[in-house]
Amino acid sequence: MSATDMLPRGFRVIATRRDTHDTHSLELAPLDGEPLDFEPGQFTMLLAFGAGEVPISISGDPARPEVLHQTIRDVGSVSHALATAAPGAVLGVRGAFGTGWEVERGRGADVVVVAGGIGLAPLRPAILRIVAARAEYGRVVLLYGARNPEEILYAEEQRTWAARHDIDVEVTVDSGPYGWRGRVGLVTQLIERAAFDAQRALALVCGPEVMMRHSARALVDRGMAPDRVRLSMERNMKCGIGLCGHCQLREFFCCVDGPVLSYDRLVPLLALAEV
Ligand SMILES: Cc1cc2nc3c(=O)[nH]c(=O)nc-3n(C[C@H](O)[C@H](O)[C@H](O)COP(=O)(O)OP(=O)(O)OC[C@H]3O[C@@H](n4cnc5c(N)ncnc54)[C@H](O)[C@@H]3O)c2cc1C
Ligand code: FES
Repeated sequence: MSATDMLPRGFRVIATRRDTHDTHSLELAPLDGEPLDFEPGQFTMLLAFGAGEVPISISGDPARPEVLHQTIRDVGSVSHALATAAPGAVLGVRGAFGTGWEVERGRGADVVVVAGGIGLAPLRPAILRIVAARAEYGRVVLLYGARNPEEILYAEEQRTWAARHDIDVEVTVDSGPYGWRGRVGLVTQLIERAAFDAQRALALVCGPEVMMRHSARALVDRGMAPDRVRLSMERNMKCGIGLCGHCQLREFFCCVDGPVLSYDRLVPLLALAEV
């Protein structure tokens, strides 16, 4: 931690994109010109002046730190101000903070990425890092679940990953409208039949907590070692640097010990009904 971790840096919104009805991606450039280096899985504390500051995962390409990419779901007052920020607006950024996915631990083996809804946003940098060194990994599988087809995040990019980078992309929705020809069902059902070598694979899981709990269990049931299953936890955060205690998860401070933690460390906590 350094003193500058408490001081937001100014970033200008240079591009925006509407991903789904309530989710927007922003591209931001640092006013001071200093790139924001980060590890896939890390987050920023993103400040909308006059509205407030919230944790948002970095969803951009780690090989392009000069552009900060963040995908934001509009669920409340602060996320609304951020998600609807227009090109030219200036936001405050602290970070990057927290632990990463450590995708390199998957080199030489299969990688299974399991995502639910906007949970794909924190996983995108990990996928882009794998894509950049695709030959170093075995089979790469993305299992993605959304509530309905309109809520599928980065749909076009998912098709590109499948077509150009030899990633097995399997998508399922909770409910599909008349005419939907894709799968309907839970993402955990995809885990049961996906092709990967469970004895050696690395799994990266992000989504609603209940989905992560069931997915981690399904991966371990397939034969994966719990310490090879990594999950990204969400908690309310204030400081982002281990000072305020807002994000405490028993002995863990989610902002510094997480957000990415391995399943073996989380099992005792996820076993509790409300953590
Ligand atoms: C490490 C981390 C990474 C995150 N990454 C992203 C991201 O990439 N994109 C994104 O859109 N959101 C992300 N979030 C969640 C985001 O921080 C919250 O949606 C935001 O704090 C909501 O603030 P608000 O003032 O807009 O809404 P509030 O008015 O505070 O809350 C609106 C609703 O959202 C719920 N909520 C608030 N905070 C959280 C939370 N942390 N987890 C679950 N539910 C919450 C509230 O219970 C309420 O129902 C992340 C959170 C963490 C901890
Ligand atoms: S957010 Fe303050 S200790 Fe984690």
